[in-house]
Amino acid sequence: MATHESTYRPTSSIGKWMDARLPVARMMHAQFVDFPTPRNINYLWTTGGLLSFFLGVQIVTGIVLAMHFAPTAADAFNSVEHIRRDVNYGWLMRNLHAVGASMFFLAVYIHIGRGLYYGSYKAPREVLWIIGVVILLLMMATAFMGYSLPWGQMSFWAVTVITNLFSSVDSIIPGLGTRIVQWLWGGYSVSGTTLTRFYSLHYLLPFVIAGAVGLHIWALHVAGQNNPTGLEIKTASDSVPMTPYAVMKDGFALAVFVLLFAWFVFYVPDYLGHPDNYVEANPLSTPPHIVPEWYFLPYYAILRAIPNKLLGVIAMFSSILLLVFIPWLDTSRVRSAKYRPVYKWFFWLFIISVVALGYLGSKPPEGAYVLWARIFTVYYFLHFLVIMPIVGVTENPLPLPRSIAESVLGKSGQPVGVGAPAAPERR
Ligand code: HEM
Repeated sequence: MATHESTYRPTSSIGKWMDARLPVARMMHAQFVDFPTPRNINYLWTTGGLLSFFLGVQIVTGIVLAMHFAPTAADAFNSVEHIRRDVNYGWLMRNLHAVGASMFFLAVYIHIGRGLYYGSYKAPREVLWIIGVVILLLMMATAFMGYSLPWGQMSFWAVTVITNLFSSVDSIIPGLGTRIVQWLWGGYSVSGTTLTRFYSLHYLLPFVIAGAVGLHIWALHVAGQNNPTGLEIKTASDSVPMTPYAVMKDGFALAVFVLLFAWFVFYVPDYLGHPDNYVEANPLSTPPHIVPEWYFLPYYAILRAIPNKLLGVIAMFSSILLLVFIPWLDTSRVRSAKYRPVYKWFFWLFIISVVALGYLGSKPPEGAYVLWARIFTVYYFLHFLVIMPIVGVTENPLPLPRSIAESVLGKSGQPVGVGAPAAPERR
């Protein structure tokens, strides 16, 4: 972990005794109280705290739901209804868990967008970034399997469509794709066996995510936090202790985000879901329009934009795996897009493309929708594979401040916009 002088001084005799044997309190103090935090980080740096909170919410509410959920094809749908109607506060646990998944993804997308804008993936934070991509993949797998559990029409058909994608391997090695799909299903179709194994993995993966988050935060505390200037902390005046400054800011952001969360949970809990999932799974009736949850829509649009099934699957998985290579695709010597007048515009074009792909993923794959999905899919890949490497070497970055402190306090060392200090008060 990053080294800085610890101010931890145990006062009680038990504290001193423990500190000499297992200095957990000293470690926590060094990493979460004293830890030097750049003095200029903005509210986008509160998303890591939000994500930690939502991981906790999902695990706690998930464990309670698991006490009443029945993971069999015959009972799953009814057990979710039983939780909502009969179990004390079951409606609350279910709403918190279902809406919490959406809030978790909303926060993670803002977190990733922040990293992309301020170049947080660049050295020395490559491993921190890659662990983040692993967490994203784990989150997606967990959410996908979780969505199958209520065993509604959308649950069943989303599992059928997505697991079937692996059958595209048949076009390279005949028979292999079908074998993979049957192995995933545990039979010759999506069934109760599939539901049970998805339930088992859905319970396991959040704990794997928690372990990966531990590594993520460890890597963060080795490299130190990035900030809007993209400069490193050089002197003590560039940083403030994490507690109370960053922690208070995290607390305020959490309170605001929880208001949004509560609005969904208490007023429109089903708004982000699909009405077809309140119809029990029926293998004999395919819904006219199968769509995944909103947070998967951009990838779904990429999948359907490509006419060949195997290539569509490859493009969809590559759109996420590509993120691993960004630290090396970005050739700019300046981290933060704040000082990159050309790249900044491409960044916003990229965000527009992802939002547009999300919209197109919710539409039927026909006519102009397909054409636009193709255009934005091409931009998605061009952005990382062509624009990032080229703009990085061709653009002239704006002059950087000499230090983080200068970006906040100005060259005078006084807060920007503050004139001469007021005369001392006369008595
Ligand atoms: C369960 C999900 C996640 C949790 C709990 C989590 C937690 C955190 C925390 C607590 C921080 C420090 C505070 C902050 O900078 O906001 C952080 C920083 C960071 N995270 Fe995550 N994270 C998660 C997912 C991701 C993902 C999916 C990525 C990227 C693909 C990512 C990339 C980063 C980077 C690059 C930083 C350093 C940011 C900087 O210093 O500028 N994280 N994360």
